[in-house]
Amino acid sequence: MGEKAKIILSEHEYEADVVVGTEGEKGIDVIHLRRDTRNVVLDPGFVNTASCSSAITFIDGEKGILRYRGYPIEQLAEKSSFLEVCWLLMKGELPNTAELEEFTEEITTHTMLHESVREFYAGFPRDAHPMAILASVVCSLSAFYQGDVGNPEDITYRNSLRLLAKLPTIAAWAYKKSIGQPFMYPRNDLGYSENFLYMMFGVPAEDFEIVPEMVDVLNSLLIIHADHEQNCSTSTVRLVRSSMANLFASITSGICALWGHRHGGANQRVVEMLQNIQKDGGNAKKYIEMAKDKKSGFRLMGFGHRVYKNFDPRAKIIKEKCHDFLKAIDCKDPLLDVAIELEEAALNDDYFKERNLYPNVDFYSGIIYRAMGIPVPAFTVMFALGRLPGWIAHAIELNADPKNKIGRPRQIYTGSTERDFVDIENR
Ligand code: ACO
Repeated sequence: MGEKAKIILSEHEYEADVVVGTEGEKGIDVIHLRRDTRNVVLDPGFVNTASCSSAITFIDGEKGILRYRGYPIEQLAEKSSFLEVCWLLMKGELPNTAELEEFTEEITTHTMLHESVREFYAGFPRDAHPMAILASVVCSLSAFYQGDVGNPEDITYRNSLRLLAKLPTIAAWAYKKSIGQPFMYPRNDLGYSENFLYMMFGVPAEDFEIVPEMVDVLNSLLIIHADHEQNCSTSTVRLVRSSMANLFASITSGICALWGHRHGGANQRVVEMLQNIQKDGGNAKKYIEMAKDKKSGFRLMGFGHRVYKNFDPRAKIIKEKCHDFLKAIDCKDPLLDVAIELEEAALNDDYFKERNLYPNVDFYSGIIYRAMGIPVPAFTVMFALGRLPGWIAHAIELNADPKNKIGRPRQIYTGSTERDFVDIENR
């Protein structure tokens, strides 16, 4: 018999099963708690709530471990390609050569957008935030593929390929719109990252020169961002998908959730913060003090994480990649010095030490994006490009789970008790 947990209620004791994951993580199964006791668990922000069982990504926040399908992030970031990781997340195993070739071919041949989608871009204001464009255009794809026939698994898979293929085009066109340059149509002779860079920075009037270091660092960044178990945007995708919404709508919800600065939007805020510190004479200590003062409303962007309480392994990889990349392209960014100084000051400060606040994935990624020439508002779009296969993998996993239910949290009601309606003239 497995381990049991006892919940002592005023009337009686409730016994619940303890579920154990493959890495020894334990969870108290309270699925029948309300049915059996009329009690619910109250856990705002889902700090202690496992919303599902999942075989995709494992994180040990205390030890700073991140693995996709068992493979350490350090190895994947070093040895793998982004499309290989997409396959791994979606299918559970690394692809063999033939599988990867076929997958690459399928994605490469779906990179174009329907010409009518192009017309949507004309309707957006030039200063539209690229995340607004990304979310709107991705959701609009639902309208173009609504008549897809076949079994639901095949439709989801086909739509997954479409999303992976088209998101770089959608993202690059959002940037082209913002700077008033012609949209560049995808080139299927280029690899995934190369093609994205071509659509971002190429112009019809000139040949496009590929910088291999940029392709490499982009590949690693996409891999590092590819999944992170039940974070805010992935949980949103799962919740929306649990209603049986189509994949485009579900992924759009993830893009919207990612946008916020407590989540993926932090990478934009990090660079804005570093720029402010630089303008302010590089006074990192002043910003550390501000972050410690709760009344200031200021937090150190790119610091802290709900799960990582030791270090974020992604931040470690990105920091190294950031140094290497800047050196390789001979770019001296003064913001890197500000970032290093701020990191050192925070890591030596008791406030940050006591609360286990370390740089997260967003702390150094913005400096790489800047060096690549990506504009600050598009940083979160870069995150979305990377996170897409994770969202898709979770949507697929949810559908494959025969026990999946619509996501529908409970609440503890704290409003008025029953009262009679008052006619307007008597209020
Ligand atoms: N700067 C200053 N203080 C902080 C920071 C920060 N960046 N992050 C957390 N704290 C403090 C909180 O004030 C709180 O202090 P208290 O115990 O005295 O009240 C304590 O540390 C715990 O913080 P919570 O907000 O309870 O932690 P939570 O897990 O809810 O939040 C989050 C995690 C949202 C990432 C938070 O650390 C934060 O706001 N960081 C800055 C934004 C950021 O970088 N987001 C990107 C996260 S990574 C990602 O989504 C890809």
